[in-house]
Amino acid sequence: MNEDFAYLPEGAVYFDAACQSLRPQPVQDALTNYYQRFNSCGERVKYEWGKRTDDAVETTRRHVLDYLHLKPRDYFVSFTLNTTYGLNLVLDSLTRRFDQIITSDIEHNSPFLSSIEYARRHNTPRRIIDRHPDGSLPEDTDFTNALVIINAVSNIDGRRLENLNQIARQIHKQNGLLILDAAQAMAHEVALLSGADADVICFSAHKMYAPSLGGLIVKKALLPELKPIFLGGGMVDDVTLDDYTLSNKNPDHIPSIFEPGLQAYGEIIGLGAALEWLPKQDRKALHNLSTELFDFLKASPKVHLINQQPTPVISFYLDGLDSHLLGTALSNSGIMARTGYFCCHYYLDHKMHYPPLVRLSLGYHNRPSDVQQFKAALEKVL
Ligand SMILES: Cc1ncc(COP(=O)(O)O)c(C=O)c1O
Repeated sequence: MNEDFAYLPEGAVYFDAACQSLRPQPVQDALTNYYQRFNSCGERVKYEWGKRTDDAVETTRRHVLDYLHLKPRDYFVSFTLNTTYGLNLVLDSLTRRFDQIITSDIEHNSPFLSSIEYARRHNTPRRIIDRHPDGSLPEDTDFTNALVIINAVSNIDGRRLENLNQIARQIHKQNGLLILDAAQAMAHEVALLSGADADVICFSAHKMYAPSLGGLIVKKALLPELKPIFLGGGMVDDVTLDDYTLSNKNPDHIPSIFEPGLQAYGEIIGLGAALEWLPKQDRKALHNLSTELFDFLKASPKVHLINQQPTPVISFYLDGLDSHLLGTALSNSGIMARTGYFCCHYYLDHKMHYPPLVRLSLGYHNRPSDVQQFKAALEKVL
């Protein structure tokens, strides 16, 4: 039992961490502490509370880069709403034109839709590359002057972009740009991202035990190719009658390029707490729970498992029972699982022609008893 989730009611089994993880007590405390002790805005104020906010926000930015073993010399971190918002923001801000935009078949609607729209708007050919069953991308893919948006870990079955480093090398050799969707990778597969040579990494703090927030990790070398599309307070040094000077030219204010207006300071500070908390968690215990669930489902003759291997994200469907009905039956036993296509409509529905699925996504809040409760509930249904 993880004491940081002691607030969880008995019998409540939350298997939807891939959507939004539960927040451990230290993260909730960090947020409350900000609200009660130094609630103030950053960047603009000279009073003491504001200085504390600025320090804490900068600490979070540092923690994000340290977490991925990236250097502040090479990268900056901006905060946004979520992965989707950050990704769209970057796509709209890029001034450079590409010969093709590439994404993969197992993407979340977030890259899938935004790449469709980018292609339409810029009249850029769009290609969908099929990932291998292990999640890797074919290395003979032509990335010539391509804008590539790809997930590091899938939200369907936890498949990983196993050859991320080779792919990044290949993309850059062919003058392409790599935007990594790290929404699922940040919490449980950070080793895969460590030192990754992506040009942009988009993530959602709410999928990594932090408050609702998004983040962008951007190569500083990309700055000349970015023009902010949202403008307003907190990002200018000077404003005249009909012009302005952006403060992102100042090395200390680079992140403001994607941070127009007042920011979610409490949430950013909560993310800092989550980044201190995450590395202390028991990855082996999470793996063991995932493996137990995977083995149980695999052994069940009526279960069609989508996963090839155990990961904290497991999807399946049952012969002869609608997944939404199964979701309701599970809910009646206290189990919160997702049903449907999890925003991966193209791959799951139109390519694989699967019926709606059930997804169990685990986190550090889960207890061995959660798995037993699920097994008993499914056996009852079967
Ligand atoms: C792989 C992946 N990419 C992108 C997203 C979008 O994240 P958000 O809704 O936080 O923008 C998700 C959300 O589940 C995801 O799993």
